[in-house]
Amino acid sequence: MTSAAAPDSAVRLSRRDLLAIDDLTRAEAIALLDRAERFAPLLSASVKKLDTLRGRTLINLFFETSTRTQSSFELAGKRMGADVVNMAVRTSAMAKGETLIDTAATLNAMSPDLLVVRHASSGAAALLARKVSCSVINAGDGQHEHPTQALLDAFTIRREKGRIEGLTIAICGDIAHSRVARSNVRLLTLLGARVRLIGPPTLVPASAARWGVEISHDMRRGLEACDVIMMLRLQLERMQGGLIPSQREFFWFYGLDEDKLRLAKPDALVMHPGPMNRGVEIDSRVADDPRVSLIEKQVRNGVAMRMAVLEALACSRTTGETEP
Ligand code: NCD
Repeated sequence: MTSAAAPDSAVRLSRRDLLAIDDLTRAEAIALLDRAERFAPLLSASVKKLDTLRGRTLINLFFETSTRTQSSFELAGKRMGADVVNMAVRTSAMAKGETLIDTAATLNAMSPDLLVVRHASSGAAALLARKVSCSVINAGDGQHEHPTQALLDAFTIRREKGRIEGLTIAICGDIAHSRVARSNVRLLTLLGARVRLIGPPTLVPASAARWGVEISHDMRRGLEACDVIMMLRLQLERMQGGLIPSQREFFWFYGLDEDKLRLAKPDALVMHPGPMNRGVEIDSRVADDPRVSLIEKQVRNGVAMRMAVLEALACSRTTGETEP
C-alpha cells in the first residue's frame, strides 16, 4: 500500500535494542512498517529466502511458552538468511535474577548477533541487554511490553484501513496483565490513533489514566464509532483470583459477539494477538468470520514485520552506529 514510499534498504535505528516501543521514534516506526510492506509479498513467493542476514546468528531464548511469536521469529530469521538457534529453556528450573545473568554470559560467549527474549518478569529483557554485546529484542517481558506484536498489529491495521492516524481503536478486556496492550497503546498513539481501553475496573490499571487514552468500563458504549476492535486474552495464569466474577459473566459484559460488534462502525475490523479463549473474550462466530476478523492476517504479517526489525537491528550494528 505504501510501498512507493518504502526505503530500498534496511531501516537504520538509533538504538541497539528493541525493548519497548519508546526505543523507536515515530519516523523509525513508520520506516519499519514501510520496510515490512516490502517483505510481505515474499511470503507468497515460491522461493522465500533472502541472504541479507547470511552469516549472522539469531538466538531465540523463550523462558515462557510461545507458539506464534517464537515460530514467527524463527521463520523471519531464516527467511533473511540467518542461522537460527532455539534455546530450550524451562522456566521451572530457573530462578530469575542470577540464572538470567548466567545465561546471558553463556550466550554472549557464543557471539550471537541478535537475541530474542521472552520472560515472565517485567524488565528481564532490559537486564539481559545490559549483559550482552548483541542486539536484544523483547518478545514479551511479564506485563510490561511486547513491541514487535504492536508493530505487526499496526502494520496489519495500516494494510487493511490504509492509515492509522485518525482511527478509533478499542483495546478490550484484560488490560492489566497485557504487555500487548501497553505496547499497542504506545505505538498507536505515537502514530496518531485515538485509543480507547475497554474493560472492567479490576482489569484496567489505575496508571492507564496517564496513558493518553480514553477509558470505558461499559463495552456496549465503548464500542461506538470504533474502526478497529482489538480483543485481549484473559490472562488467567497472571491473576491472583477474584478479578472477574466468572468467565460466563465476563463474556456477557466484555466478550465480543456479533451483537456487540454491531455497535461499532459498520466496517469495523476485529483483532486478537492469540492465543484466544473462545467463548470467554471472543465468540467463534466473530473470530472466524473472514469479513471482519484479521486474526490470521496478524500471524502472517508478523513474519514480514519481524524480518524488517531483524534486518534493521543487524544492519544498524554493521555500521557501528549503535555500538555501546
Ligand atoms: C501474547 C503474549 O504472549 O504476550 N501473545 C502473543 O505474543 N501472540 C498475548 C497473550 O499471551 O495473551
